[in-house]
Amino acid sequence: MTTLSLRQKKERGEPIVMLTAYDYPTALAEDQAGVDVILVGDSLGMVVLGYENTLPVTMEEMLHHARAVSRGAKSALLVGDLPFMSYQVSAEEALRNAGRFLQQGGMDAVKLEGGRERLDAVHTIIGAGIPVMGHLGLTPQSIHQLGGFRPQGRTASTAKRLLEDALLLEEAGCFSLVLESVPARLAELVSKKLAIPTIGIGAGVGCDGQVLVTHDLLGLFDRFTPKFVKKYADFHGEMQRAFTEFKSDVESKTFPAAEHSVEMAEAEWQELLKEVE
Ligand code: KIV
Repeated sequence: MTTLSLRQKKERGEPIVMLTAYDYPTALAEDQAGVDVILVGDSLGMVVLGYENTLPVTMEEMLHHARAVSRGAKSALLVGDLPFMSYQVSAEEALRNAGRFLQQGGMDAVKLEGGRERLDAVHTIIGAGIPVMGHLGLTPQSIHQLGGFRPQGRTASTAKRLLEDALLLEEAGCFSLVLESVPARLAELVSKKLAIPTIGIGAGVGCDGQVLVTHDLLGLFDRFTPKFVKKYADFHGEMQRAFTEFKSDVESKTFPAAEHSVEMAEAEWQELLKEVE
């Protein structure tokens, strides 16, 4: 999967499938399921590392997980999510960190949050040949400015600003755009106005593709579940069940059974007994 094939999918009207991954086995399973794009999202901070929000996530943490994902996925387009403060200070720093995702993390492209205020960084990164995915609407790295995890673009003026930002990001060369938690009809309008594909999360069915945070989809993150998530499994419940069963087996000495144990030839055993007794 390449940035070009994503664009072609949009042109053919074929929905794009994107999921997050942070480790080798998840990336392997998503790749084998035919997921088009795997995002090593900075949601890592919340769903894997247990932070309150995405702000504490560092480049080193992202790269560690990006490398694991790149070892598991062979077909999907791999996108590394630039964490807070890795691209806001200067365009040069943005480029250096974007480059690290490709050189050290095995990613094919990077994602960053924000609109017109990020054009400098977007231009500089793309100028070095690194594909950039934009992210508008609810941008979790700005939660303090946005007043929390709340939908965006619900008034005519904020919706117009979002559409302008989307057009600016496309003009700057972004190959795709995530639209997070915005009204469905606004996301559909943006998707129609852009030639590049939009990937929605909490943005309705009118986007060119959909993404979910994998731990939400799997029911693996039980702290809170946004309204727009559809849970396809209850991995947290299943993990608890398996751990409780293991505890009970250990305590009742039903694990390990004979088939889980290593045997020794009788002659060797007798020789050992002779030696030690
Ligand atoms: O970090 C992340 O997982 C994301 C997705 C929600 C798009 O940015």
